[in-house]
Amino acid sequence: MIRPETTADYAAIYAVHQKAFGGRAAEPELVAALRKLPTFDPALSLVYEEDGRIVGHILFTPISIETDPGRVPAIALAPVAVLPGQQNRGIGAALVRHGLEACRRQGHAIVIVLGHPNYYPRFGFSAALARPLACPFGDCGAAWMALALVPGALQGVQGRVVYPPPFSDV
Ligand SMILES: CC(C)(COP(=O)(O)OP(=O)(O)OC[C@H]1O[C@@H](n2cnc3c(N)ncnc32)[C@H](O)[C@@H]1OP(=O)(O)O)[C@@H](O)C(=O)NCCC(=O)NCCS
Repeated sequence: MIRPETTADYAAIYAVHQKAFGGRAAEPELVAALRKLPTFDPALSLVYEEDGRIVGHILFTPISIETDPGRVPAIALAPVAVLPGQQNRGIGAALVRHGLEACRRQGHAIVIVLGHPNYYPRFGFSAALARPLACPFGDCGAAWMALALVPGALQGVQGRVVYPPPFSDV
């Protein structure tokens, strides 16, 4: 079952990210910090629950693209994690697909991800679409991808993607 997180899930979500990212605290701390932002939307923080246990989590956070004509709203997919023993069962894909649908319902038009170039294209993400958007994390190469939830949303959009401060700490 995929559903929005509740406060009762925080510890389990922390553990999912910590275990999935090899024991690092950076990703679970990122999730905790992003929850404190005024733009945080619990409808875009989804858990995958199986037999009463949280086995996966995905978070989407509002960001913006600074362009010459002005600021264009977008949303960042990050992070997504599945417990190591449960990976490669389609749970990550289900979270991404449900998450993108939730973003669409919330009225978002552009999604950006910095992730594995072999994983995200299956959901429609494209490095070519992201090329006119400057990645703030250095040379991101093919890992820097974008997706238009609304056809044409990225047409003519060129600028610098700005993430909220917690992302600089990862
Ligand atoms: C990436 C991740 C969320 C995918 O979830 P999942 O449930 O294992 O993935 P799915 O079952 O939907 O898809 C399996 C596919 O993902 C690929 N995959 C698994 N982990 C991957 C990783 N770290 N990077 C790239 N691809 C990965 C598998 O090779 C498989 O590819 P295939 O379908 O071409 O054979 C999960 O493996 C994970 O938590 N990894 C560690 C944390 C991480 O790297 N998160 C992503 C960065 S924010």
